[in-house]
Order: sequence, then structure tokens, then C-alpha cells
Amino acid sequence: MDRVTIFDTTLRDGEQAAGGLLNAREKLDIARQLDTLGVDVIEAGFPVNSAAELEAVRLIAKEVRRPVICALSHANAEAVDQAWEAVKNAAHPRIHIFLSASDIHLMHQLKKNREEILEASRAMVARGKEYCQDIEFSPMDASRTEPSYIYRILEAVIDAGATTVNIPDTVGYAVPSEYGELIAGILQNVRNIGKAVISVHCHNDLGLAVANSLEAVRLGARQVECTVNGIGERAGNASLEEIVMGLRTRKDFFNLGTGIDTTQIYKASHLVSDLTGFPVQPNKAIVGANAFRHMSGIHQDGVIKKAQTYEIMDPRDVGIPASSLVLGKLSGKHGFSERLAELGYALSEEALARAFQSFKEIASKKKEVNDRDIESIVAQEQRSVREVYHLEHVEVVAGDHSIPTATVRLLGPDGQSLADAALGTGPVDAVYKAINRIVKVPNRLTEFTVKSITEGIDAIGEVLIRIESDGITFTGRGASTDIIVACAKAYMNALNRLLLAKG
Ligand code: KIV
Ligand code: ZN
Repeated sequence: MDRVTIFDTTLRDGEQAAGGLLNAREKLDIARQLDTLGVDVIEAGFPVNSAAELEAVRLIAKEVRRPVICALSHANAEAVDQAWEAVKNAAHPRIHIFLSASDIHLMHQLKKNREEILEASRAMVARGKEYCQDIEFSPMDASRTEPSYIYRILEAVIDAGATTVNIPDTVGYAVPSEYGELIAGILQNVRNIGKAVISVHCHNDLGLAVANSLEAVRLGARQVECTVNGIGERAGNASLEEIVMGLRTRKDFFNLGTGIDTTQIYKASHLVSDLTGFPVQPNKAIVGANAFRHMSGIHQDGVIKKAQTYEIMDPRDVGIPASSLVLGKLSGKHGFSERLAELGYALSEEALARAFQSFKEIASKKKEVNDRDIESIVAQEQRSVREVYHLEHVEVVAGDHSIPTATVRLLGPDGQSLADAALGTGPVDAVYKAINRIVKVPNRLTEFTVKSITEGIDAIGEVLIRIESDGITFTGRGASTDIIVACAKAYMNALNRLLLAKG
């Protein structure tokens, strides 16, 4: 059976959409999970963008040894050199060079003619090839480019050493049959196409990214570029989990395999959502909370009699944990760590101690602690940062006849205990104002979301906030059975990120 290369660009196209919000450790955590998931290629970033991005790609290249580690590059010498600088120590490095090809981009953005673009593409692939054997080239906006010009570009870059040629539907404009024809045309008309793998990279502006990618694969493409949860520019990229489960579930139709361990999908989805702060919509295929829930009586009846009556995939195949086992306040560290291991989490001793502490706090308030509570505890651990200020205590007075008042106590950078109080328009506002009186770092709250992670009146509530300071956005998340405490934790998490970034 033929195999499709899964090229994950969560850390590049996905992170681009998150506004560069992930720090290097978070990127490395995601890269490690992508490795466990079995992706073939990790596009780790766009090194020429910033020194921090270059460092993050370099770190991933050093630490994650099985997959190909790829760096994106503009078609100019400085960017190619920086990309190589970032991946040169990878076990399997790749440089991915792109340049716009469509007339609309050439005329209005680049102000160059086709021959100039063709020559720059060829020359930069040749430059990359001097460093690295594995070179990918993308004629950007290919789906809106005259096919005969695409053929010429591809021939030139393959002659110059490109080993993968990627056909981006940059603005999500293509429809499946048309995009498939483009791929078939490339196979027929590009003289040296046998020397390169055809890759596809589809955006989801019309909701067709996965359909376009699968049609391209049916017609001969053998690499798909995608992201976990489909995150990416605007409406996002083709979603990795949908591509992989599409190929797997309809193996009868595609007769194609991937190297993905599908049981790691759910964990990857949660990690990416937790760290980027992009929630997964409940009805999202494969990983949404409702993806395997049957509400109608007829469906429930069928599933009880035989799952396949209404289920085309087994939830266990995507790693959705069965939440049958519950822990409680009498559970010990051993039981807790065993359950963590069963759910596939391996925490360091220190992280385990902190996670167990959070578990105890939750178990003292909730009768039963289920797998989703445990996942939330692990997620808090994963997104924790070194704390400049630590929240020790928060207390509010609120109600329809009182002025919302908050008192907070923080542990400061030198270990001193700092307390203050403030009035606000509501309890959360009062808490944030009280914290601001101590931390004193100007910022603007740009996003505030509250959701319940688990069911029931004693559910864990999770708060996501984004704050902006000097044009940079910082995300903070906090979880607790007390929503005000979750708000305070989320704000502290964002403030600590801001303080660390400012040095
Ligand atoms: O969408 C796009 O065209 C891209 C390229 C850089 C491949 O992301
Ligand atoms: Zn893209």
C-alpha cells in the first residue's frame, strides 16, 4: 500500500494564526507530541521572522530526532541562510522555500514579472541545495496561477534540486475537482516530476481544505500539509486528524496509509488547544466534544445494539479515553500517577508533585475526579511558566447589593508577601484591579472566555484571557472549581508571561 507523508505545520502556519503566542518550551512540547503522533515532517517555524523563532526551531531540531524538521524560508538569500542555521543540527533537516506565483500577487504585491520570479525560485532552491539535500519549494497561490506557468516553475526548481514540490491553495479558493485536475496536470506535464514528491497545502476559507487535500491525494499527491485541529491563517489549514482518519476510515476507497498512531490524536488536539488557547468547536469532526456523542434515541438504540450502525470510527482509535475510572479524595499519589500513565502522560517528579497537589485541591471540592479533570490538571502543568509573582490568596465580596471588592495576596519576586484590595464593576474586575495595584505592569485585556471543562455543578471552570502590552499578546489560562480563582490564576499566568518576556 502506498503511503502519504504527513507534514505538520501547526508550529508554523498554525502558530502564525495564534499570533506567535507560543514560547519555545511550549513549541517543544507540541513538537514532542507530534513526534509521538508519528508525523513525518514537522515544520517548526519561520526562522527569519525573529531571533526567538530561530532559537525555537533550533531547539526542536536538536531535541526531536525522528521526524524531518523543516524551516520555512522566503526566496531570498538571508532567509535561506537563516533557515539552514535553524535546522542544520537536525537529524533530518529540510528547508522549505516559497515565492508567490499568481499574477495577482506578482502585479500588486511583488511588482515583478514571471521570468524574474522563476529565476529567483530556481536560484534560491540552488542556494538551499548547497546546504541541505532535502529541499521543498512552494509556488504560493498556485491554485490561482495559470497551470502552464506552474509547470515551468516546478521543472526549474526540480532541476535545481527540489525534492518536494508543494502546491498551495493559499487563499482557500479551489474546489476539489479543479484542484485535483491541477495535480493530475502536474503529473502529466512536468517533465522531471518523477524526481520529486507532490505535496498539497490547502486553506479552509470555503471549508474545503480537507476535501481538496484528499482529492489531490487520490490523484497522485503524496504529501499533505496540515495542522492539528485545523488551526492556521484565517479559517485555518486542512486538519491533520480529518485527513488521517479520512484515509484510514476510507482505506477501501483510497488504499493509502500514513505513519500516524491515531490513538495519539486526542492528546495532540488537547495539547494544541490548551497551549494556543484556540478552543475546539464541539461539533468538530474527530476531536470535538460531540464527535462521538449520540443524542437521538434511534441512534442510541442502534449503537447499543451494534456500534457500527451509527459509528464509522471507534473513539478509542483516536485515543478518546474511556472515563469509567474515577478518583476521589482518598486516592493516593500512586493511584493518581497510575491513572496519568494509563492516559499516556509522563510527568517529571517535580511536575507530578505539583499536579498531585492540584488533584488534592480539586478532590477536596469534588466528589469524583474523572479523566477530563485529570487532563485539565496536566494541561495546567503544561502551560505553567516560571512565576515572577505567585497568587497566594484571593477573596471577593460580591452580590446584587454590594460593591464588588477583592483582596489578593501575591508572593513577589524576592519572596515577599504583597497584599492589596480594590473595588471593581464586578468581582473579576475587582480581582484584576487588586492584582494590578501590586504588579503595576500596563496592559490591556483583549479577550476573556470562561468555559466548563467537566459536567455538573461542581465542574472545573477554565478561564482563558489574552492581554496586550506594547503590541504583543500574551495568553493566560487558569482552572479551578471556583471561577473567580480561575480568573485570578489566568490573569497571573498571562502577567507572568509578559514579565518574563520583558526580562
Ligand atoms: O498558504 C501558503 O501558501 C503557505 C506557504 C508558505 C506554503 O503557507
Ligand atoms: Zn499556508
